Amino acid sequence: MTTVRDDTALAKATLDETSGVMGSVPGHRVTHTKGVLLTGTFTATPEARTLTRAAHMQGDPVRITVRFSNGAGNPRCSDAAVNDPRGMAVKFSLPDGGETDLALQTWPVFPAATPEEFHGLMTAQNTGEAATATFLEAHPHIAAALQAIEDLGDPPLAWGRTAFNSMNAYKLVNADGDEQYVRFRFEPVDGVAFLPRDQWDTADPDHLMNGVLEQVPVRHRLLAQLAQDGDQTVDPSRAWPEDRPWVDLGLVECTGPDTERERDGDVLVNDPTRVTDGVEMSDDPILHFRHHVYAESVRRRT
Ligand code: HEM
Repeated sequence: MTTVRDDTALAKATLDETSGVMGSVPGHRVTHTKGVLLTGTFTATPEARTLTRAAHMQGDPVRITVRFSNGAGNPRCSDAAVNDPRGMAVKFSLPDGGETDLALQTWPVFPAATPEEFHGLMTAQNTGEAATATFLEAHPHIAAALQAIEDLGDPPLAWGRTAFNSMNAYKLVNADGDEQYVRFRFEPVDGVAFLPRDQWDTADPDHLMNGVLEQVPVRHRLLAQLAQDGDQTVDPSRAWPEDRPWVDLGLVECTGPDTERERDGDVLVNDPTRVTDGVEMSDDPILHFRHHVYAESVRRRT
């Protein structure tokens, strides 16, 4: 007998556990609760259209809405917190009036290969240290992912000095129908920098959210790491070999605060499964699960 997963039920159960781990507050996003919204443009490089026929990747600038966020569930969390998975979500406006989203995180790899594993990790962490130790002994690849995450856990200096990774794989399809699996990264043009350790306790708790408004224009390159034949595309807990090449797909430029979204009851959701022709989802089960999780988070915050 095959078991069909009930994604909605698993999303609810996972968010119940995640709320405990991330300190969520009812009525707000369950995670990535504190954020800042900016507007700007994305301009693709000539290389981008050799890989994908996606409308926003053909070279003409398109309008974007960018949300930088802390990962925690508390809207008052400090921007100087250590080991918090920061986010950068970009909503691209397409020439036909549609939209497509990317939502990337500072984590280098995800601490689970499947939704069930992530639910297990959240449940263990919510239960306590002994349960977490037992869970990690039984799941060494998750223990390794958590170590890689912790190694990059220092608080960022500024949003424009922070790099973000998709971890999930996508498939790009060009005008000839050629296919290429990729993982995305937003790379800060000014380079990666962390908050110096001697400022962790004294930093303004809003130094990222307020700082970025004074630092615009803030620029990231959208990079794509190219998989080679045989690279797995379903497990975000494992990085691809370091020698896999990176291609520059274009410039993400934030130019000022967004003044339109999340007002008068407007609900902004950046759903990484909202793809467009020329960009397809891989079979990564975490990527598909994110749609159900974000929909449930919206139900809880609206
Ligand atoms: C590769 C894996 C993942 C990445 C890169 C990622 C990244 C992000 C980012 C950047 C945001 C902020 C979106 C915004 O600013 O609008 C976000 C939101 C969120 N993420 Fe994830 N995430 C991942 C997986 C997961 C998983 C497995 C869960 C399960 C608990 C989860 C739960 C959430 C929730 C609840 C939100 C808030 C959604 C909303 O209310 O709009 N994420 N994520």
